[in-house]
Amino acid sequence: MGKLTDQTVLITGASRGIGAATARLLAGEGAHVVVNYRDKAKRAHAVVAEIAASGGSATAVQADITRASDVDRMFAEVGDLAVLVLNASGGLERDVDPDYAYRLNRDAQVDLATKALPLMREGGRIVYITSHPAHFADTSSESLDTYAPVARSKRAGEDALRAMIPAFTECGIDFVTVSGDMIEGTITATLLERAQPGTIEQRREAAGGLLSVEEFAAHVAEAAVADIETGQVILAGGPGAWA
Ligand SMILES: NC(=O)c1ccc[n+]([C@@H]2O[C@H](COP(=O)([O-])OP(=O)(O)OC[C@H]3O[C@@H](n4cnc5c(N)ncnc54)[C@H](OP(=O)(O)O)[C@@H]3O)[C@@H](O)[C@H]2O)c1
Repeated sequence: MGKLTDQTVLITGASRGIGAATARLLAGEGAHVVVNYRDKAKRAHAVVAEIAASGGSATAVQADITRASDVDRMFAEVGDLAVLVLNASGGLERDVDPDYAYRLNRDAQVDLATKALPLMREGGRIVYITSHPAHFADTSSESLDTYAPVARSKRAGEDALRAMIPAFTECGIDFVTVSGDMIEGTITATLLERAQPGTIEQRREAAGGLLSVEEFAAHVAEAAVADIETGQVILAGGPGAWA
């Protein structure tokens, strides 16, 4: 028996990267995994097919989480929820308006958490995924220049969600944050390297090695099921040079 047998887990932005790797791991814990995606239906359905081929259970649900009506439709499809993994993030995309990072990384996260609460029972959990440049944005002398505006919006998202902890607790729902340094092999790492060549090597040296997508996803999956006090922040791979 897995730790999430017969329970539903929704992972935002699970069509690729860390979200997709987390989906595979939590399906292995017996969960029915809802793989949310924005655009990449083919990729999301490939994640679902892979989970099904391994004997797991998953469905793909399209929703741009910055659109409240999409989020309403998605939750109507999902029904009861045991774990919500707030993984989807962005802001480095080309041609997005200046407010987009805040709408996605703060406002959409609050909207999702607010609308998920009535679907969750006591003992449920919300897991928020962030990055060290974001988590330590207000306190660290380290920074990643190109990523700084995204980092600030993600920190604002974390603060806004933390302010909801009393409301979560009232419903018996735990809130856990998982943060990591740059993750090897991700699109974000590639984009930052393109903007500022040498960035990946510099992060590898500063952190004493970077986690892979699978290693970081293992921390996220553990945070979804482990016996952890609400409000905890898990610094996957340690704080490195950020603390
Ligand atoms: N990459 C890193 O180095 C790193 C380090 C530490 C922490 N993290 C955190 O880990 C999480 C995942 O990062 P990642 O690098 O795996 O991300 P990623 O490869 O950029 O994937 C982003 C995912 O989010 C989805 N998405 C983007 N905008 C969306 C929207 N408006 N509505 C719904 N879904 C949306 C995408 O869906 P489509 O493909 O369908 O567009 C995709 O599935 C993020 O919270 C990030 O901050 C990343």
